Amino acid sequence: MAQFKVAVVVGSTRRESINRNSEIADLPLYNQDNEGNLPASVVRFKAELAAADGVLFVTPEHSRSIPAALKNAIDWGARPWGKNSWAGKVAAVTGASPGAISTALAQQHLRQILGAQGVVLAGGEAYLQFKTDLIDANHGVTDEGTRGFLKSFLDQFAVLVGKLAAPVKA
Ligand SMILES: Cc1cc2nc3c(=O)[nH]c(=O)nc-3n(C[C@H](O)[C@H](O)[C@H](O)COP(=O)(O)O)c2cc1C
Repeated sequence: MAQFKVAVVVGSTRRESINRNSEIADLPLYNQDNEGNLPASVVRFKAELAAADGVLFVTPEHSRSIPAALKNAIDWGARPWGKNSWAGKVAAVTGASPGAISTALAQQHLRQILGAQGVVLAGGEAYLQFKTDLIDANHGVTDEGTRGFLKSFLDQFAVLVGKLAAPVKA
């Protein structure tokens, strides 16, 4: 079976995040003055994106949008001009919140931002309402229905990654 690399970008910087831990917490606040000499964390982040066949975004919602830390990571990924790490990437978007409408508005904003960066967005939506017993000590999803739903969401994403990341035949 073919294997693909998927980068997982988690929109939260919180240690005990319900959206799990993240690799964007060490990115400095974006500043165009630093584009000529990219900080090491930015170089690492862009290299991870370059190596990925697809990107799975798992994000909280902050003030009815994406967290500032995630927007910051997207801005670094998009720059410098001509070195956009997002262009042509396949991505899926999901996220958890205790709120009744979950991360619906953050996800819509994220889709708008990524679309403008040339990201190919996978179909399907997954808005997870977080309850304390949803995830067990081994990070497993306790509810069978939710587990099946998430599996089919990820399967759909994997199929799209497989189609678009397949090597072009000579
Ligand atoms: C600054 C801030 C703004 C928030 N705004 C929202 C919001 O707009 N919608 C929502 O559902 N939850 C909101 N929350 C609650 C988050 O869903 C909750 O803190 C969640 O645990 C964040 O995800 P994390 O655990 O992955 O960091 C907000 C939390 C913070 C700290």
